[in-house]
Amino acid sequence: MLAGKRILLIIGGGIAAFKSQLLIRALREQGASVTPVLTRAAEEFVTPLSVSALAANKVYRDLFDLTDEAEMGHIELSRSADLIVVAPGTADLMAKMAGGLANDLASTLLLATDTPVLVAPAMNVRMWEHPATQRNLATLKGDGVRFVGPEKGDMACGEHGPGRMSEVPEIVAAVGAALADGPLKGRHVIVTSGPTHEPIDPVRYIANRSSGAQGTAIAAALAALGAVVTFVTGPANVPPPGGVQVIRVQTAVEMLEAVEAALPADAAVFAAAVADWQVTGKMTSKIKKDGSGKIPALKLAENPDILATVAQMGRKRPKLVVGFAAETDDVLANATAKRKRKGCDWIVANDVSPETGIMGGAENAVTLISDAGAEEWPRMGKDMVARQLAARIAEALG
Ligand code: CTP
Repeated sequence: MLAGKRILLIIGGGIAAFKSQLLIRALREQGASVTPVLTRAAEEFVTPLSVSALAANKVYRDLFDLTDEAEMGHIELSRSADLIVVAPGTADLMAKMAGGLANDLASTLLLATDTPVLVAPAMNVRMWEHPATQRNLATLKGDGVRFVGPEKGDMACGEHGPGRMSEVPEIVAAVGAALADGPLKGRHVIVTSGPTHEPIDPVRYIANRSSGAQGTAIAAALAALGAVVTFVTGPANVPPPGGVQVIRVQTAVEMLEAVEAALPADAAVFAAAVADWQVTGKMTSKIKKDGSGKIPALKLAENPDILATVAQMGRKRPKLVVGFAAETDDVLANATAKRKRKGCDWIVANDVSPETGIMGGAENAVTLISDAGAEEWPRMGKDMVARQLAARIAEALG
């Protein structure tokens, strides 16, 4: 997958640096060559010798190393790579990158290049959530830096939350996506997928039958064409694809916030089956039967319409906004009206009546509705629908 690709791997100083050693091996197994760079702090966690042995390559460590400069100057070093991977991407490295600092070899390499950069952040949850890091993240995304992770989970410091570095296979997939050469290279596309869960009380929720299969396939197909994909997913049955930035949400409100935070984008595809209603006055403790036979009454309020919100944005509106229409009756008429009402460019209409077996199934039969009219596609696998849709999106974005 990565045959002949040259990766400059900057290892930051964090406990996750041990995973970077496995990353070197995995990248080389895919055919890439790896040139490692260690920050001072990284040397507290891994040794230059082991990193060099795994990479079968020289390790670069010092900005002012005359031998290194004689062999290959630092400017040359960063420009000779196809991709720079920063893993672990510490809060400190991200801050230096966002601020344009160049006070050690790693930060100088990152500043002295226009080679694409992929960061796999790893840090304590509070450091990750700190406004400074979130500001730096937004700046770096705006500069075109790609990210993989961080994941939520238990941390070496004993805390729990987002901040764990992604696992090696995810980083390798993200490297593959960053290097993918296709018509969507450099384009940012947001994809929503899966159902949303709307809590009733701490143990119950309202949901729907969406598996997330179609949205997942679309995200994978877009990434395969070289797009930078932000994949905002509700609790789906299928795992998210590799090579995309995954943002997990539960509710419609969280999904809207995640989509808004991911803008700007060149295109957005709204494949999620968003719950239309949320429960108002959510209970903080479990609703109990009180023995009287009285049935609790749920009060619902309408959820924000994510597709309509984004389609009707001004300056920040993606160039191409694609919605789905899940219908059981008068599919074409309803979907055409939905496109108009929501203000999106395209609607992918599908019949989700139980007898079609589409919701939760492997196949889909869709009609693409645009300004040009309605175009009926034959029934085919969801993967194939995704590939065709991704190709059409690439065409539309030019
Ligand atoms: N959608 C959304 N936010 C919502 C509801 C729907 O972004 N709160 C998006 C879906 O992702 C899809 C499109 O709008 O792309 C249409 O979804 P659908 O469920 O078919 O339509 P609804 O707007 O929910 O209308 P209805 O249920 O009345 O058919």
